[in-house]
Amino acid sequence: MNTFDLRLGDCYGIVPTISDNSIDLAICDPPYKLGTCAGGGLYKPVGKDNPNNPYKRKETNSIKELKKLGCADFNAEQFLDLIKPKMKKFYGYFFCNKPLILDYLKYAEKHNFLFEIIILYKSAPIPARNNHFLPDTEYCIMLRENGTYFAKDAEFDDYRKLFTVGSSRKIHPAEKPVKMLERFVRVSCPKGGTVLDCFMGSGSTGLASVYNGCNFIGIEKEEAYFDLSSRRLKEWQDEQNGVGGLFEGGYY
Ligand SMILES: C[S@@+](CC[C@H](N)C(=O)[O-])C[C@H]1O[C@@H](n2cnc3c(N)ncnc32)[C@H](O)[C@@H]1O
Repeated sequence: MNTFDLRLGDCYGIVPTISDNSIDLAICDPPYKLGTCAGGGLYKPVGKDNPNNPYKRKETNSIKELKKLGCADFNAEQFLDLIKPKMKKFYGYFFCNKPLILDYLKYAEKHNFLFEIIILYKSAPIPARNNHFLPDTEYCIMLRENGTYFAKDAEFDDYRKLFTVGSSRKIHPAEKPVKMLERFVRVSCPKGGTVLDCFMGSGSTGLASVYNGCNFIGIEKEEAYFDLSSRRLKEWQDEQNGVGGLFEGGYY
């Protein structure tokens, strides 16, 4: 049976403890980089003639809160450099918003990696326009070294680069659909290979990995989310072992 190894703590401290050249595929959904524009209500305008504020913007409480949680100024290059020695060959999917796309593509250019831009299309976006296009897309950047695994026999839809995501009930505020993550695993990780998620949240990448015959290493720094992902993966394991609840045949 596939294994999962879940670790509670900060990935910047934990990743260095993972064996070098042991990971086939990273699927990570890190904190996004927040822009300095007024969009999204994270900044509000202040007096135009404040010479110390090049953006003429003042932080709202919500961005202060995100910064406190370390969720505002993600440094993509620093993170990719952290996981690179752990990969057999560099291969990963990284969720991001628009300001981060450039950082990922610069990394691809610097290391001569292949890349794809995968789009998550929100069918019911927040109707904010405020001098911008609708906030109806998020992105996932795939970066890979030449010679990495790419399945030839997955389902036709597994190779699509556009996913429509709805606004269904979530168990984590940034939860990604397991069905979408499963496509990445099927296309990019050989059976029996190991997937790493350094920002595990509710454990969706873990489920996508074990459902598709791969091992999983997941890291999460918030105890409540760590417990949630542990529970979800444990349920899968119990099911594999034929251990059900009292009224599902578990009393034989
Ligand atoms: C965008 S969410 C991931 C959601 C996940 N993809 C899912 O489907 O549930 C990012 C998660 O990373 C965690 N996190 C943020 N910084 C971290 C760090 N330095 N190390 C480990 N976890 C971190 C947050 O607590 C949050 O749960």
